[in-house]
Amino acid sequence: MNNAADFHTQEDDVFGRIAGRYDLLSDLFSFGIHRLWKRRVAAIITREPWTDLLDVAAGTGDVVLKVARRQGLRSGQKIVASDISPQMLAIARRRATQLKVPVEFRVLDAHAMPGVADNSVDLYSISLGLKICERKLALREALRVLKPGGRFIALEASNISVRWLHRAYLGYMAVCMPVIGWAATGGDASAYRYLLKGIQDFPTAEGLAAELREMGFADVSFERLSLGIVAIHTARKPFGPRP
Ligand SMILES: C[S@@+](CC[C@H](N)C(=O)[O-])C[C@H]1O[C@@H](n2cnc3c(N)ncnc32)[C@H](O)[C@@H]1O
Repeated sequence: MNNAADFHTQEDDVFGRIAGRYDLLSDLFSFGIHRLWKRRVAAIITREPWTDLLDVAAGTGDVVLKVARRQGLRSGQKIVASDISPQMLAIARRRATQLKVPVEFRVLDAHAMPGVADNSVDLYSISLGLKICERKLALREALRVLKPGGRFIALEASNISVRWLHRAYLGYMAVCMPVIGWAATGGDASAYRYLLKGIQDFPTAEGLAAELREMGFADVSFERLSLGIVAIHTARKPFGPRP
């Protein structure tokens, strides 16, 4: 189990460099469809009962802002949006202020979040961030901070189940991402190289579900969106020790 994008935050502050263009790049790479994927994640989050929500690798805050706008915050509820990049979080904070939604922002590394107590989070979400993390570390940390019974939700690149279509999609992305990425970042190659590698090497939906079970998550399931270009995995931290 590893890091699909072969991305190491300490070695390349790529998200800090492209923060101001990240939202534009997301729209260009996905033709705007990422908004529908995140809307679906927000819908799943809002139908769950939770008091403390931690969104990890939150970027410019798309998911938490959708959640906060969708349901407003009920009494006692708290949303924390975290990311390793202060530049990405600065944009998220600005958007939250404009929308007047109460979100707390914290710079946190998904691999080790010593500032978040064990068993303290009802709902942990991560969108399009797992492919650039060491999955094993990030998933172990998710399990640690979740309360027993707490919910895990991950939106991530996945596989179109029709093989030839998936290959065609990867071929298309291999051509399209460098061109769009190059133009939109003024020639910053790493900005799209990581994401492309992450898309190519991320496990299938079934593979990620198996990893989640292996890590100790319970009630693991997934739904494919856009034919399987991405999938949303949901799981729970079990109440008791592993059998
Ligand atoms: C592809 S963006 C996704 C952002 C946002 N969740 C979205 O869906 O638009 C990946 C984000 O992960 C963050 N990131 C990368 N490595 C991280 C780590 N180890 N811990 C926390 N965040 C990380 C980056 O700074 C970036 O904001």
